[in-house]
Amino acid sequence: MALPTAVKIVEVGPRDGLQNEKEFVPTATKIELINRLSAAGFPNIEAASFVSPKWVPQMADGAEVMAGIERRSGAIYSVLTPNLRGFEGALAARADEIVIFGAASEAFSQKNINCSIAESIERFAPVAQAAKEHGVRIRGSMSCALGCPYQGEVPVASVVDVVERFAALGCDEIDIADTIGVGTAKRVREVFEAVTKVFPRERLSGHFHDTYGQALANIYAALEEGIAIFHASVAGLGGCPYAKGATGNVATEDVLYLMNGLGIHTGIDLNQVVAAGDFISTAIGRANVSRAGKALLAKARSEAACS
Ligand code: HMG
Ligand code: MG
Repeated sequence: MALPTAVKIVEVGPRDGLQNEKEFVPTATKIELINRLSAAGFPNIEAASFVSPKWVPQMADGAEVMAGIERRSGAIYSVLTPNLRGFEGALAARADEIVIFGAASEAFSQKNINCSIAESIERFAPVAQAAKEHGVRIRGSMSCALGCPYQGEVPVASVVDVVERFAALGCDEIDIADTIGVGTAKRVREVFEAVTKVFPRERLSGHFHDTYGQALANIYAALEEGIAIFHASVAGLGGCPYAKGATGNVATEDVLYLMNGLGIHTGIDLNQVVAAGDFISTAIGRANVSRAGKALLAKARSEAACS
């Protein structure tokens, strides 16, 4: 299959990237990060979570973050909502899209949202219905689609099953997430080949964590399956609080460098993203793990020193 000519990159750094930081990241820093990302041209930014602050304390200021950001016209600002209470918060915060998040593995579902897969779908049903009534987009995010830290192997049939359940809830988009970054290109193609039989290809996305250094190869494999939505985290921020040892998402700068090289349109300014990655890494005192980001920063600094 020919590669797509344009892709949508969803920046998930402000949520997936920051949720696992031990020290509370000040609300003003989160807002500045999102504003910088908006200015760089992202069509979709995952900005916050409306989850239990006991479970994820870092995301406790979602309402303040959503109230403080400057929204770029036409951009989608998404928030995570595990239940109706979260949905109410999302609605009050004028989120453009809510994300319900389940798993392809029973064990991970229990650890992350404290219920079985079947119970999670029951819990999501009124959330999805309320979103439809209020004209809010719904995304379904499926953790552990390529492997689980507790269960190990996850059958492709389990992934297809959850995609079908999300589709029945009326999801506009569905994420195939490799929470612990264990997937490799062959398996990625098999999973997308299977799920595209039950859900439209153009509404499926790849959400790859880079724990085993496979994320860019997995994105390329997904591109070959015609997938055109990818999630990425600026400076490679992140990790999941309920998946021990999982590192951040693939770094956005690296994905943009790949897309630019392939001539695939994103509408996003790589240099501005590199600057945003430098800003947040410095602000929270964390190493920037984007290879392209670090290389471009070093190049800009050496050029500035020579001029
Ligand atoms: P629970 O303890 O089973 O349910 O949590 P509960 O209803 O008993 O609630 C516990 C407490 O939280 C109560 O407070 C509720 O009021 C409160 P208390 O009475 O003890 O004082 N509460 C809330 N507070 C604020 N907003 C809410 C809310 N709901 C309940 N919406 C629950 C169940 C689902 C709430 C909990 O497990 C939870 O919040 N989990 C969130 C986990 C999470 O955010 N994980 C990270 C995001 S998922 C991810 O990163 C994966 C992804 O990136 C894809 C991938 O890479 O795999 C998307
Ligand atoms: Mg994730």
